[in-house]
Amino acid sequence: MSYPYQITSLKHYQEEYKRSVDTPEEFWADIANHFTWHRKWDQVLDWNFYEPRIEWFKGGKLNITENCLDRWVETQPNATAIIWEPNDPSEPHRTFTYKELHHKVCQFANVLKSNGATRGDRICIYMPMVPELTIAILACARIGAIHSVVFGGFSAQSIADRIQDAQCNIVLTADGGFRGNKSIPLKAVIDEALTTCPSVEKVIVLTRTSVPVSMIKGRDVWWEDEINKVEAQGNPICKAEIMDAEDLLFILYTSGSTGKPKGVVHTCGGYMVWTNYTFVNVFQYQPGQVHFCTADIGWVTGHSYIIYGPLSAGATSLMFEGIPTWPDAGRFWEIVDKHAVDILYTAPTAIRSLMSFGTDPIKGKKLHSLKVLGTVGEPINEEAWHWYDEHIGKRNCPIVDTWWQTETGGVLISNLAGITKAKPSFATLPLPGIQPVLVDENGKKIEGNGVSGNLCIQFPWPGMLRTTFGDHERCRTTYFSTYENLYFTGDGCLRDNEGDYRITGRVDDVLNVSGHRIGTAEVENAINMHTGVVESAVVGYPHDIKGQGIYAYVIFNGIHIDENQTRLDISQTVSKIIGAIAKPDKIQFVSGLPKTRSGKIMRRILRKIAEGELANLGDTSTLLDPLVVEEIKSNKL
Ligand code: WTA
Repeated sequence: MSYPYQITSLKHYQEEYKRSVDTPEEFWADIANHFTWHRKWDQVLDWNFYEPRIEWFKGGKLNITENCLDRWVETQPNATAIIWEPNDPSEPHRTFTYKELHHKVCQFANVLKSNGATRGDRICIYMPMVPELTIAILACARIGAIHSVVFGGFSAQSIADRIQDAQCNIVLTADGGFRGNKSIPLKAVIDEALTTCPSVEKVIVLTRTSVPVSMIKGRDVWWEDEINKVEAQGNPICKAEIMDAEDLLFILYTSGSTGKPKGVVHTCGGYMVWTNYTFVNVFQYQPGQVHFCTADIGWVTGHSYIIYGPLSAGATSLMFEGIPTWPDAGRFWEIVDKHAVDILYTAPTAIRSLMSFGTDPIKGKKLHSLKVLGTVGEPINEEAWHWYDEHIGKRNCPIVDTWWQTETGGVLISNLAGITKAKPSFATLPLPGIQPVLVDENGKKIEGNGVSGNLCIQFPWPGMLRTTFGDHERCRTTYFSTYENLYFTGDGCLRDNEGDYRITGRVDDVLNVSGHRIGTAEVENAINMHTGVVESAVVGYPHDIKGQGIYAYVIFNGIHIDENQTRLDISQTVSKIIGAIAKPDKIQFVSGLPKTRSGKIMRRILRKIAEGELANLGDTSTLLDPLVVEEIKSNKL
């Protein structure tokens, strides 16, 4: 096995990049030809960014799971597809060959069918990081059902919002999940969510933690029992549903600057080609290597670089149930040695957190197997980059700094490991097919090098989002209307004198906390639901480990017990409404918020105060009540 479209040198990259811009349709057809299709496309690309309408491999027929499983069962049935490392290091790890994974996926696909699932259904998945999660996702894709995975850290309310938005009829969950020394009661959270989700008819529950759970007659069934039933029927095969290239593959909810999270939609053909192409090229994956992406499958990184990218490339993908700091801060390194990991792909937050433990946890760890390191999710500071390079890569492993988004499906800007040069804190160069442009506030393109602006992409790529579920207009206004004929990323960006790109962070009201996207408006809405809260404003501030922390200014009526208790109560409310990941790091009680005469909160000022830049707040003369700024400054936390 080899990848004919793998880039092998800098010159080759330059040639491929040029070809992708000059003749994009031929370029992508050449790559797509290396996949399994039931019918090839009539047209490679049909698009406009006005509606927007983006169609790749139009008329093509395929099933992504035949590309992730069946074709490898034919050529390398005994190659390892998944290595699963449990939370508790004393529990045995599990491995699945392509043949075994194929069998498990078919089996569970039959379970889904026998529970009434059909093509086009939306299935919500709220599960711990166990192999059955991967099996469940692929089983949905097998039968043409659309998966909507919800991260295990989200609250019942957040799950309910997502289930209602997508009108899911089936939920896949587990009794609970393990993370470090905690056990998370997933089924209990689902039970709470489902009190407001009449669309859900069936809940299939996997046993993981063996905590007592309620099982409602007619609605809830045990995963294991259902497997036994389909086994008894003796049909081990589930034929793959033949899908249109543009049929929906999955929905993944993500935060924006306004309102509730939106369901980003990816489709079968383009997403498959894009995740595969970027996986093979960015990480320079070589057959037989072990790829360890530490993300949770609840986020897009897990979808694209634990499941679809690696498996569609016949790779070995390592899936880890636990957290980097349990039982101790050497856990990642222990896993690297135990499974001879070749490629480690993690987040700057994890690196900074592990860095804070010093180098003791690395002592005695060999890390000899490592060849490529990667980061994703937020800008990586130079200190963390160098620590990663020196202590983990031993200055011997290229680091790929991969910039992308839930909406982009896969990596858009990154160096290619060992092929194009790395530059600390720079994502560097666009992948073939990606045409980035920087624009100023008025949407005017900024040409040349040594410039900064808002990052847009001016041409479609196969892995881009197609719509936001149930609300196409929202997709248009969020991404395609700020600047005419451009996809707007929401990120600020610098292009240095050598033409390398450095992402500088969000320019909208989206926070990136520990690499997790959270909208300030979402957090404000949750805080405002707490009794006694009159109004609130949320901004980000630099945080040593998390990248960004959440700073909330709150106008409160009648402190209950004392300020600290009220802070904890407000945090608890946020945790209930969104999930623990959205808890504010700091809550400052204020008597008023700085507002313009038209009543708009001046976030710029609040951001500066939270950042500790008290001296230079800019013009405050347009404020309704400039005195409020003095009060906020003097009580800053
Ligand atoms: C940020 C995660 C700098 C960026 C795959 C983007 C990054 C948001 C990088 C998307 C990077 C992601 N350098 N910033 N290498 N990667 N980001 O949707 O602000 O969870 O818009 O997708 O993370 O977050 P999302």
